[in-house]
Amino acid sequence: MEINEKEMQKAAEILRAGGLVAFPTETVYGLGGDAFNPLALAKIFEIKKRPRFDPLIIHIADLGALEAIAEVRELPASAQKQAERLMHTLWPGPLTLILPKKPALPDLATSGLPTVGVRLPAHPEARKLIRLSTGAIAAPSANPFGYLSPTTADHVRRQLGEAGGMILDGGPARIGLESTVLDLTSEIPRILRPGGTPEEILRDILGDISSGNEKTPRASPGMLKSHYAPGAPLKLHDPEEMLALPYNPEEGYLFFRQTDLDLWLKTQDRPAKARAQALSAAGDLPEAGARLFGCLRELDSLGLSSLHAERVPDQGLGKAINDRLSRGSAGS
Ligand code: TXA
Ligand code: MG
Repeated sequence: MEINEKEMQKAAEILRAGGLVAFPTETVYGLGGDAFNPLALAKIFEIKKRPRFDPLIIHIADLGALEAIAEVRELPASAQKQAERLMHTLWPGPLTLILPKKPALPDLATSGLPTVGVRLPAHPEARKLIRLSTGAIAAPSANPFGYLSPTTADHVRRQLGEAGGMILDGGPARIGLESTVLDLTSEIPRILRPGGTPEEILRDILGDISSGNEKTPRASPGMLKSHYAPGAPLKLHDPEEMLALPYNPEEGYLFFRQTDLDLWLKTQDRPAKARAQALSAAGDLPEAGARLFGCLRELDSLGLSSLHAERVPDQGLGKAINDRLSRGSAGS
């Protein structure tokens, strides 16, 4: 879906004037503001009710814009090479790199950290907006803190309403999962958040990386255990367990494959179809990723007492899907 030129110009002007604009990227919709304007940054935290200790990702439209934000030369030589290789192979794309921060970037953008998360999105209209406005746009996912990320303009509208300011509608997000966050300032590159760029691809390019978990302290301040949560409690199940669940009309069910859902439906007594959904027709992980947040939202809108979701294979995009599901279920 194309955004018309007038809307685009208007959005760029709002950003230049220190206002906020929600805009599409290939991962999820972002709530953008000028990265160099502390007032715009403060508005982002306020509207999202985001704790100030959770730093923002800065979005750029081309490699030339990196220099104003990050100091790649402060990295050890080997990490510099890795950064360059990643940027040239995987940007534009769903990968955020944590790099040393330029002092001129307001501390509010990075929550006072000496590092900054930078991303060059693959969405052409997101890049156009960034280029037409200020060249560096801070943008978290356009949802209230802790809730599911928006993958359509409608999700943004319903969650942030008027407070979110102007919303550019670019249709549904292609990937539907947030970017992978990779820290290049640690001794070995470390995945702080699994996302749209699978770990396997990073390993192919870098060799050794760490996917940091329990053993390593929380390095990405926003990666709280209970995050990406729907309103109803969410329980996670392995496939066999999921197939054996008895249907409860008060509960919702999210299967990975349509064939498993069909199998399960046959064993149940007249289940309401809307309460049971499948992420993918044929067990395709990219399709499942693109539908994940939308399906969870739909189930969540039915006012059910709890939701059940099936774990997906833990490979490729499956790692990010399982990560979001398990964070979504952590408080339940
Ligand atoms: O796909 C995406 O990344 C989307 C779209 C809009 O680009 N944005 C997004 O932003 O997901 P947000 O704010 O919802 O998540 C940013 C994550 C948080 O977990 C934050 O803690 C981490 O990136 N992060 C940002 N800067 C960091 C830094 N300097 N060090 C460690 N983690 C950082
Ligand atoms: Mg977010």
